[in-house]
Amino acid sequence: MKYLTLNHQKVSAIGLGTTGFWSGKNQGLEDCILTAVNDYGVNLIDTAEMYGSGKCETALARAIANLPREKVFLVDKILPDNATEESFFPSLHRSLSLLGVDEIDLYLLHWRENADLAFVVQAMRQAVQQGLIKAWGVSNFDTSDLKDLLACGGHDCACNQIFYNIYERGCEYELLPFMKEHGILPMSYSSLGSDYHPHPDIHRNTAVMEACRAYGIAPEAVMLRMNTEQGFAALFSTSSLSHLHSNLQEVPDEAYREIFARMDQEFPAPDHGYPLVKI
Ligand SMILES: NC(=O)c1ccc[n+]([C@@H]2O[C@H](COP(=O)([O-])OP(=O)(O)OC[C@H]3O[C@@H](n4cnc5c(N)ncnc54)[C@H](OP(=O)(O)O)[C@@H]3O)[C@@H](O)[C@H]2O)c1
Repeated sequence: MKYLTLNHQKVSAIGLGTTGFWSGKNQGLEDCILTAVNDYGVNLIDTAEMYGSGKCETALARAIANLPREKVFLVDKILPDNATEESFFPSLHRSLSLLGVDEIDLYLLHWRENADLAFVVQAMRQAVQQGLIKAWGVSNFDTSDLKDLLACGGHDCACNQIFYNIYERGCEYELLPFMKEHGILPMSYSSLGSDYHPHPDIHRNTAVMEACRAYGIAPEAVMLRMNTEQGFAALFSTSSLSHLHSNLQEVPDEAYREIFARMDQEFPAPDHGYPLVKI
């Protein structure tokens, strides 16, 4: 497993999401989280107060209850509606309580909407000072949103979690270079694609699948490596141990070069940038 550094903390370059707890895939997802942490060295686990209105935070707390705290890098997200004077700290304390931890490793504003960014910066910083979160960031922010955040003094924003995968690469033009320039870690969600944003089925692409078969590598493992090669911490989700094993299999350099060259040909990046896709 490759590791990245976020605010002096070691974070696995691949991580698991928890929306499966919302859709009732509890046992499968719990098994996948434990196997990913114990057998593959994954520590990045993502959740949000929105997911099932706390159900996913509660289920995640149960899943990781017997793991040493330092084995998990917890990402949680606050809704923009709760990023207010009245609701910010009650929301954060509720998440801490549901997760059963004293501190969240990375706390994100889930999306911008009408959030008062100056307030967000100040509240996040206060939460860091109080030892309730280790680092903070945002999600679904396009370049102009990040510029507004920086104009509000948010230079300590550590991460922007965005939609990025082989089928959706518009951010490669402006947003991704902007994040790198400003030391904001890109984190991708739906790194294997999402049903909420229709895309072709890579398993039906003969050129890609022939290359994958030649090396005995699953296309999902190559897709995740593509994201990490671009500098992302890449989130995906699965409730199937067999999917987990194939997604996390190691992709040797030569296999990556050959298979990715096919993928890039079949699913090329757009020839121009456009507004960030959010799902
Ligand atoms: N910040 C945001 O706004 C935002 C938005 C969306 C998601 N997220 C986060 O990102 C996480 C990941 O998002 P996601 O869209 O990838 O999760 P998702 O909605 O759970 O979708 C993942 C899907 O991929 C399938 N899958 C995984 N590996 C596979 C394989 N090898 N072959 C076939 N199917 C496979 C899974 O099915 P199986 O269970 O059968 O494997 C599942 O249906 C979420 O859980 C959440 O934490 C954040």
